[in-house]
Amino acid sequence: MSKEYKELKKSYESIKKKIPYIPKYGVVLGSGLGDFVDKLEIDSSISFKEIKSFPQATNKAHKGKYLFIKLNGVNIVIMSGRIHHYEGYDTKDVVKPIRLMKMMGVENLILTNAAGGINKKFKAGELMLITDHIALFIQNPLCGENVEEFGERFPDMTMPYDKGLSDKIKKATTKHKIKLNKGVYAQLPGPSYESKSEIMMLSKLGADAVGMSTVVEVIAARHAGINVAGISCITNMAAGLSKGLQSDEEVLVSAKKNSDNIFTILKEVIR
Ligand code: HPA
Repeated sequence: MSKEYKELKKSYESIKKKIPYIPKYGVVLGSGLGDFVDKLEIDSSISFKEIKSFPQATNKAHKGKYLFIKLNGVNIVIMSGRIHHYEGYDTKDVVKPIRLMKMMGVENLILTNAAGGINKKFKAGELMLITDHIALFIQNPLCGENVEEFGERFPDMTMPYDKGLSDKIKKATTKHKIKLNKGVYAQLPGPSYESKSEIMMLSKLGADAVGMSTVVEVIAARHAGINVAGISCITNMAAGLSKGLQSDEEVLVSAKKNSDNIFTILKEVIR
């Protein structure tokens, strides 16, 4: 058994009793996008603090807990808040919560995030379906000994985002008249926002939005055979594409306005 898997097994064993059922779906809620969970009936809540050998969320906007709920009769686990590389964690620790979801039985994963818009057709406040990704200047979470228990050494990334899940998101937004852009998401390490020149570079590389999360999680999820879809909330236009400066406050205020839209989409997708 690989060292990484052994450690994750310990994490899993430490909370096994609090997992009420096998969740078919996993959902990762990005900065400010989780307000709707307060309205839900929670079957079980597990804070990352209770989990053995687990990274801890240090970002105020990220609670760091698993919430088990039933949506349309389907068992799901919501990860309210995530771990970021910029908090000082190796990317293989950043993806531990995703791998733990795999151990719980998650087959489908919907990841959300707050992102800066690079595509000039986008407006702050709109959503973007992630169709592909670029990881730049950030370590691949699969570096080091391969965790054979999850997947192969060299996993394919030709089409990381599942067509079936993505089509369901498109249908849900059409039905509820929610504007949905489509595009490529680039993950940089953060925590500083990008410079104008970095945004120009990302634009030339084909990125439509930029953020500090998600791609490493998608890589770990695909490695473990989980179907993945991603939604970015374009909370602001990226550096140099709007008049103002980048601010965390603006990102959170804008994301919070989309929390109900994310819930509406989830309800449609999870049936
Ligand atoms: N850059 C990086 N991450 C972000 C941004 C941004 O402009 N907005 C929200 N998250």
